[in-house]
Amino acid sequence: MFSFLILFPILFTLSASTPLAASLGSKSTDGYNIHAVLVAGSNTYINYRHQADVCHAYQVLRNHGVPAENIIVMMYDDIANNTENPYPGKIFNAPNGPDVYAGVSKDYIGDEVNPDNFLGVLRGDKDLAAKGKKVLTSGPNDHVFIYFADHGAPGLIGFPNGILSSDYVNKALVYMHNNKMYGKLTFYLEACESGSMFENILPDNINIYATTAANSVESSYSCYYDPKIGTPLGDQFSVAWLEDSDSHDLTKETLAKQFQDVVKQTTMSHPQQFGQKSLASLEVGQFQGEKSKSKIHIPKRHSRDLINARDVPLVILRRKIDRTNDAAEAAVLEKRFETLIAGRRFLESSIKKIVSQLCSYGYCSDVKRVMSTRQPLINHSTYSKVAEKFQSSCLNLGVHTHGMKFMYVFANLVESNNFTQSTLDLFLEDLERACNNHIVNHGFEAII
Ligand SMILES: *[C@@H]1O[C@H](CO)[C@@H](O)[C@H](O)[C@H]1NC(C)=O
Ligand SMILES: *[C@@H]1O[C@H](CO)[C@@H](O)[C@H](O)[C@H]1NC(C)=O
Ligand SMILES: *[C@@H]1O[C@H](CO)[C@@H](O)[C@H](O)[C@H]1NC(C)=O
Repeated sequence: MFSFLILFPILFTLSASTPLAASLGSKSTDGYNIHAVLVAGSNTYINYRHQADVCHAYQVLRNHGVPAENIIVMMYDDIANNTENPYPGKIFNAPNGPDVYAGVSKDYIGDEVNPDNFLGVLRGDKDLAAKGKKVLTSGPNDHVFIYFADHGAPGLIGFPNGILSSDYVNKALVYMHNNKMYGKLTFYLEACESGSMFENILPDNINIYATTAANSVESSYSCYYDPKIGTPLGDQFSVAWLEDSDSHDLTKETLAKQFQDVVKQTTMSHPQQFGQKSLASLEVGQFQGEKSKSKIHIPKRHSRDLINARDVPLVILRRKIDRTNDAAEAAVLEKRFETLIAGRRFLESSIKKIVSQLCSYGYCSDVKRVMSTRQPLINHSTYSKVAEKFQSSCLNLGVHTHGMKFMYVFANLVESNNFTQSTLDLFLEDLERACNNHIVNHGFEAII
């Protein structure tokens, strides 16, 4: 009796200050569950940061009460045990920060991290489920949170061995809407030129709110280069939202407020919002979990040390060269640096030759103009076919990510040509011919 009297006010205080959702995991009073898909689209140690961002996102959702079974993680998983990792079995998303790898579920690893599996996860693909793979099982009221981090190009995001177009991503989202796989959906996207994945394509009336690290014509930036780990640990936009979520009560912060905070922190690119922007008045907690928790210790601010994502491989090598006292090692690194530069020069001149050949076929009149302008991508479906042709006949952009830097020239050609199905088919053949002349078998291993 006595202890009940003491307990009662405590219980009362708890339930008054904590939303019901907290005691029920992700189940809110509105009867929705939170489901999440977290994807790192890269592999290899120079891209450490994408898997670090995704692991951190997993910790954010778990810390805020999203049940592990509702989170699907796709990450190559070649970082924690990488021979270059000085902290085996650990991944950090900030200098002196906590290990974000511990406890992360890995539902798709290695070559399973591919565009088809990502689309299958979104569509709740029955064949994948039959093979025992996790796919979205969300229903008409549920809230879905998608976070993707990798390299990008106009209308493209990368995977370790492939690419995925804006056309396919948005079709999958529309499929999810038509098949009542969510009540509300939020998509956070980190990639270069990521605004182009949703601009002129994502409908604004299907309860989807998307934010991107950059607009449609600019790079995104890595941050937190760590000399000992030898690579940037995060990306500026991603770290901005992740640390914002770490340090806020997500039942009190709206998506709009988080976006404003992220814009303030993302100094080198211009984060964008797309889709149904009225959703931004909802609490972040409705997508990232509503359990209140003690604030995560935020490491003391280091210089963010921002690097254009496209230059990261060069900057990493240059810093290693500057750091080493071993002349033999410096020579090896210097050679690698020169190979990278040569690969980039080769690619740039090849793209010019390809455009020049396409102009000679009548698809353009001024090579310089095609190379130096950036037309907004409108015909995503036609561009998607051109990008796939480039991927299959010219250069694997998943592996040779630097090629993404030049994909805008094909967006320009698509937008200036107003193709019909038959002229598009001819163009694709001509593109393949031009690539055979100028890229294939010219030793492009160095293009990263
Ligand atoms: C990393 O190494 C540890 C210890 O050898 C091992 O238990 C773990 O399975 C490895 N993880 C991966 C992803 O290879
Ligand atoms: C594009 O082609 C269609 C069909 O051939 C035509 O009706 C339309 O006017 C063209 N648009 C432009 C901007 O040239
Ligand atoms: C995109 O181009 C295709 C031909 O490749 C054409 O059929 C379609 O109408 C175009 N779509 C838009 C939105 O312009």
